[in-house]
Amino acid sequence: MSAGNERSGPEPTAVLEAVDISKHFRVRAGRFRRGTVHAAENISLALRPGTVTAVVGESGSGKSTLTRMLARTHKLTSGRLYFKGEEIDPRAAATKDYRSAVQLVLQDPFASLNPAHTVRYILSRPLQIHHKAGDDLQESVLGLLRRVALEPAEQFIDKYPHELSGGQRQRVSIARALAVEPEVLIADEPVSMLDVSIRLGVLNLLADLRDRDQLAIVYVTHDIASARYLADTIMVMYAGKVVEVGPADLIANAPQHPYTKLLLSAAPDPETATKTWLGDSGAPPSLVSPPSGCRFHPRCPFAMAVCSQQAPPSFDVAADHHVACWLHSPEQVEAQSGALG
Ligand SMILES: Nc1ncnc2c1ncn2[C@@H]1O[C@H](COP(=O)(O)OP(=O)(O)OP(=O)(O)O)[C@@H](O)[C@H]1O
Ligand SMILES: [Mg+2]
Repeated sequence: MSAGNERSGPEPTAVLEAVDISKHFRVRAGRFRRGTVHAAENISLALRPGTVTAVVGESGSGKSTLTRMLARTHKLTSGRLYFKGEEIDPRAAATKDYRSAVQLVLQDPFASLNPAHTVRYILSRPLQIHHKAGDDLQESVLGLLRRVALEPAEQFIDKYPHELSGGQRQRVSIARALAVEPEVLIADEPVSMLDVSIRLGVLNLLADLRDRDQLAIVYVTHDIASARYLADTIMVMYAGKVVEVGPADLIANAPQHPYTKLLLSAAPDPETATKTWLGDSGAPPSLVSPPSGCRFHPRCPFAMAVCSQQAPPSFDVAADHHVACWLHSPEQVEAQSGALG
């Protein structure tokens, strides 16, 4: 994983890599004016087989926009994508092969499964369309149900979505994504609509798919605690930008960006069950006219003059740990160590 670093070519071990990708939406900003939503800006990431990358941030921070760019249902405004080292033509529509290799699982398993069809039909269709069924279609469908731990599979195959619980439905959505043998699975808030008691089961299923099937998984969430539980790498987004990225244990135990610290302090602490609210510290800005400089500066307790003037680049704080915050510029780090010494 890397963010914000210049590189001449794609990372050899990445199945999917984004370099500096951005998405702007043109919108009507008033009666006569048009504006631009700067939804995701200059994001770089490399997804490797057998790893989970969590994308964490508040509502409107650009997480879904990023997933849509990776799945190529949104065209990039700028930047580059590499699939297995090959650069993708940004003007071309995604091929059928790309669409099966990079699968999206959405938040709402109620909306994403057609209520008129049985599980058998829902899972048979992608197997047939993508010629993945093998000799025995029924056995292939049962195999998919077993992979997502819906067992005994024979009891689920002829059910309709309304006969399943939310967690079971989300497992069927994941099975449908697996039907086309993806290499990248992008799960956009896959557990946020599920009962708290069954979330862990679905997260553990994603962990199994990473470990057993070596999938490269993107896990999108508001909840940094679940990201810490599941992910190898955590990428924190604020107002369309990556503010910090690094190994999950470093982000959780030694966060460097003031916003990551805020997110962690707002996550419930299982030991004390106390919770502070992000809302107490202000709200994310408009992305039509985002704040100058660092987009977090109006909410940041440590903001300096430079923060409102210039957007911070990504500074390295440890191997694979990068933070876009002026507090970590070499000059600041030196000044602070001088003050301490
Ligand atoms: N099709 C679109 N047209 C215009 N603006 C859009 C479009 N899609 C997203 N946006 C805007 O882009 C910004 C980022 O939205 P996005 O859905 O990516 O955020 P998110 O982090 O996924 O939020 P949530 O946690 O609520 O799902 C928001 O300001 C949103 O209103
Ligand atoms: Mg979203």
